Amino acid sequence: MKPHSNHRFRRMGRWSLLLAAAACLATALPAIAATPLPRLVSAHGRHMLLVDGQPWLMLGAQVNNSSAWPAMLPEVWPAMDALHVNTVQVPIAWEQIEPSEGHFDFSFLDTLLSQAREHHVRLALLWFATWKNNGPAYAPAWVKLDNKRFPRVLKKDGDTLDSLSPFAASTLDADRAAFTALMKHLRAIDGERHTVIMVQVENESGTYGTDRDYSTAGDRLLQSPVPAAVLAKTGRKAGSWTAVFGKDAAEFSYAWAIAHYIDQVAAAGKAVYDLPMYANVALRDPFHPGPPGGYASGGPTDNVLGIWRAAAPALDLIAPDIYLPEYAKYTAVLDRYSRSDNPLFIAETGSAAPYARYVFAALGHGAIGFSPFGMDFTGYSNWPLGARKIDADTLKPFALDYELLRPIASLVAKAGFEGKLWGVSEPEQTHTQQIDLGAWQAQVGYGLPQFGMPEAKGNPTPQGGVLIVQIGRDEYLVAGCHARVSFQPAGRNAGKHALFERVEEGRYVDGQWQFLRVWNGDQTDWGLNLTSEPQWLRVKLATY
Ligand code: DGJ
Repeated sequence: MKPHSNHRFRRMGRWSLLLAAAACLATALPAIAATPLPRLVSAHGRHMLLVDGQPWLMLGAQVNNSSAWPAMLPEVWPAMDALHVNTVQVPIAWEQIEPSEGHFDFSFLDTLLSQAREHHVRLALLWFATWKNNGPAYAPAWVKLDNKRFPRVLKKDGDTLDSLSPFAASTLDADRAAFTALMKHLRAIDGERHTVIMVQVENESGTYGTDRDYSTAGDRLLQSPVPAAVLAKTGRKAGSWTAVFGKDAAEFSYAWAIAHYIDQVAAAGKAVYDLPMYANVALRDPFHPGPPGGYASGGPTDNVLGIWRAAAPALDLIAPDIYLPEYAKYTAVLDRYSRSDNPLFIAETGSAAPYARYVFAALGHGAIGFSPFGMDFTGYSNWPLGARKIDADTLKPFALDYELLRPIASLVAKAGFEGKLWGVSEPEQTHTQQIDLGAWQAQVGYGLPQFGMPEAKGNPTPQGGVLIVQIGRDEYLVAGCHARVSFQPAGRNAGKHALFERVEEGRYVDGQWQFLRVWNGDQTDWGLNLTSEPQWLRVKLATY
């Protein structure tokens, strides 16, 4: 207590004392949110995340797996600040919060939250528990060393794998209890602030090396009826897993078992603190997947997305981890995970420069967020999956995206939800793209000089991207990098001649447009050239 506070206390009247007592009591009770809880809304097949009641676009980055310790945070914040992120994904490991059964330590979480608030970012927590990339590496020793109580997955030949069985009630009980304790603590320390806006439940679940768990429970499931929710989602008629799904029954029933397990963990967490929750995916190759087990079988890969959505209603979304640099594969994943029943969130993506441009295509597919992985200065890089090293230069292409998007993130999230947003990224093989805006057709070219009309050759390494937001009848916000944009009349304007009525360059400060200059002459004659500067253009189109 400060020295003068006794004196002040004496001067307080009876009513003030009662109010103070009520305030103390209130802090002892579970926190009541002053603003609405973060939540997802969906309409017309599109989705939006609301944080404190406002549209929120997650301009994210994820720290390395072993960076979630107080001593590492000084290596995290400078990278996050340089990136201009508004959301940071940080693991919370089961072994860290419950080193011995029933004894919890949330000191890292407390430190993390107070530092995140100082850095004006929100957090998504990643629950590393029964599954972290298929195995229980992040489960406490009392779990991962007790094979009897917490059995591992059995292969067909009777050998065991380093993946915990989703059929063990004892494992589910222990994981769920720890997760519930975490959510309870989170609500107590953050229920009014919502520093944490989302929680990922487990990490890249599924099992490598088998299509399913060949335990007795796994065998039994195959012969039991497919739940009605799965039948409804997949349009099948009733029967056992084997009868309904034939050669896919092993993988599909296993997917159901894992999804159902994670659903129960998520539901228990939501019951104490109802934050949006999601599961991330170790993807299979979208065009040449190979057999299950070669990829993490049972995880929410694209072939079992319907089963997961049916089995895990407590999960708000299933989010792909995209480490596929090729345009065709990247955009195939965006297509498959952006569904009317699944908001798109790029939970992880590569840290190498070519990945930065995909934020535009992701937004064009309706994404509520995007997040490169391993973005801190702890000295680790997951090359060749991501960049060779993580330093200031590595961050630059992502920082450019986020510098552009952060001041206007709420408007972008809202425009996406309203169907007034288009976004594209540069392909490797083709160097022009058409975007259908209804009354206009936008033409995008990559690798062009700023002057003249030569054939587009593509950037030396693909790095271009464009975002267009409709703000009026013939009025658009245009931004992006390393690309040229021009407009042709279409729809109700078809057959007319087009002109730029006015092109303003400006900035958004606190969501408000600040005019800098008008672009005309060379700056508009050949189209609008977007470079490596964070520029927003307000474009008014007209016909004559
Ligand atoms: C995907 C996982 O989800 C991450 O935690 C990490 O292990 C990367 N793979 C590889 O760096």
